[in-house]
Amino acid sequence: MWSVTTTADRFPQGLHRHRPFVHSLVDILLDDETAVGLARLAGRGEEGALKILVLGGDGFCGWPASLHLSAAGHEVVIVDNFSRRRIDEELGAQSLTPICSNSQRRAAWREVSGREIRLAVIDLAADYDRLLELLRVEKPQVIVHYAEQRSAPYSMKSPAHKRYTVNNNVNVTHNVLCAIVESGLDIHLVHLGTMGVYGYGTAGMAIPEGYLGIRVDGEQGELREEILYPTHPGSIYHMTKVLDQDLFAYYAKNDALRITDLHQGIVWGTSTTQTRLDERLINRFDYDGDYGTVLNRFLVQAAIGYPLTVHGAGGQTRAFIHIQDMVRCVELAIANPPRRGERVKIFNQMTETHRIRDLAALVSRLTGASVENVPDPRKEASENELRVVNDSFLDLGLSPITLTEGLLEEIAQTAAKYRERVDISKIPARSLWTKDLRPGVPAAYRHSAKQ
Ligand SMILES: NC(=O)c1ccc[n+]([C@@H]2O[C@H](COP(=O)([O-])OP(=O)(O)OC[C@H]3O[C@@H](n4cnc5c(N)ncnc54)[C@H](O)[C@@H]3O)[C@@H](O)[C@H]2O)c1
Repeated sequence: MWSVTTTADRFPQGLHRHRPFVHSLVDILLDDETAVGLARLAGRGEEGALKILVLGGDGFCGWPASLHLSAAGHEVVIVDNFSRRRIDEELGAQSLTPICSNSQRRAAWREVSGREIRLAVIDLAADYDRLLELLRVEKPQVIVHYAEQRSAPYSMKSPAHKRYTVNNNVNVTHNVLCAIVESGLDIHLVHLGTMGVYGYGTAGMAIPEGYLGIRVDGEQGELREEILYPTHPGSIYHMTKVLDQDLFAYYAKNDALRITDLHQGIVWGTSTTQTRLDERLINRFDYDGDYGTVLNRFLVQAAIGYPLTVHGAGGQTRAFIHIQDMVRCVELAIANPPRRGERVKIFNQMTETHRIRDLAALVSRLTGASVENVPDPRKEASENELRVVNDSFLDLGLSPITLTEGLLEEIAQTAAKYRERVDISKIPARSLWTKDLRPGVPAAYRHSAKQ
């Protein structure tokens, strides 16, 4: 009854090369010896504990979130196909921090905490039947959905990368929604979206949490309504999050699914309370031009004496959230689900905004690194203002960790500790939004052989 699939034809060239992508039922039940064990676990639970599937639980956000939720007493099952690890191989890049295999990670967590996190290896974009079977066996109360290709530059690298990103992200989201309906279970879906769905222009107002109140002239007079905030995706990746948003609205309306969509800012930092407990629990730390996020990249650049690469004049303003707040927000969202029949709950999951050149100045002040303005490989506004409403999480008790020099110091120390692992040829952002743009390479590196 189980079909064995290969996804070779769905990945950009080379992505599938290194690891056979064939799994059996046994892989789904990795930590439990038999299906009987799984059935026994299904539905059991400590007081207030929930059964939670963390889709994409091997990734940068999903791994610390899985640990956090497990530490909070929930029963966590990670679902992942390790595509992110294969993308590292495709790009010839690696996490700055030496991350363990998922089974080593989970064994370490078991040792440290006495708690079990199980794993199901499923390609959620392709293996609908296995996903549905997993829901039927596990009967989770909550699904946290991180399982998407999340890099904007990666999504813009080539037609193959664009198509992969759309196929992967939209199919994962739709398969999950469809499987929830088909399972008949009342599951709360918590999805990680992005602030990027709103676009990065200047709105001239504080961006509301997902919905915009409008007044229009109707046939019988003025009409007042709340609509989804108009979208302005700035990349194919962001476009997939826009498509996700419409899928959520549809399934909440048609099937009364309970859905929370978290419009998340750029995550900074790398470790959380749990990942610090043991070296084997260490989280990924991307610094390369495709997956590295801006602040973490600056800190690595500073650690190895590479100029801080500011795209254009660095006038872009972006929303940020610390990784510890990210896991806390997900826990808060889980604890405050929408009712059946309610529209999708949308939270802006960010705690502060910063202009990129100001961030570079801050890191430069802290570390003595030089700053260099390089060409901007993205098609984006060179300057924008950004004000964002984030009352929902504040009202639920979030006390934000803001970008202080003390915390930056901690990340800078991590960057310095592993600097021998840095491949400088991977640092520049080379993925171009259109052919007429140029990569973000500092002048001194433009003609070197590795560049
Ligand atoms: N990292 C950030 O700064 C940030 C900011 C805003 C939003 N987000 C969102 O949060 C989510 C997680 O981001 P991340 O930084 O942890 O990314 P990541 O790439 O580190 O993790 C994503 C995980 O999902 C898995 N995955 C992808 N496609 C899959 C599939 N078809 N089947 C099963 N597993 C699959 C990957 O193997 C990986 O482990 C993404 O949806 C992203 O858009 C991240």
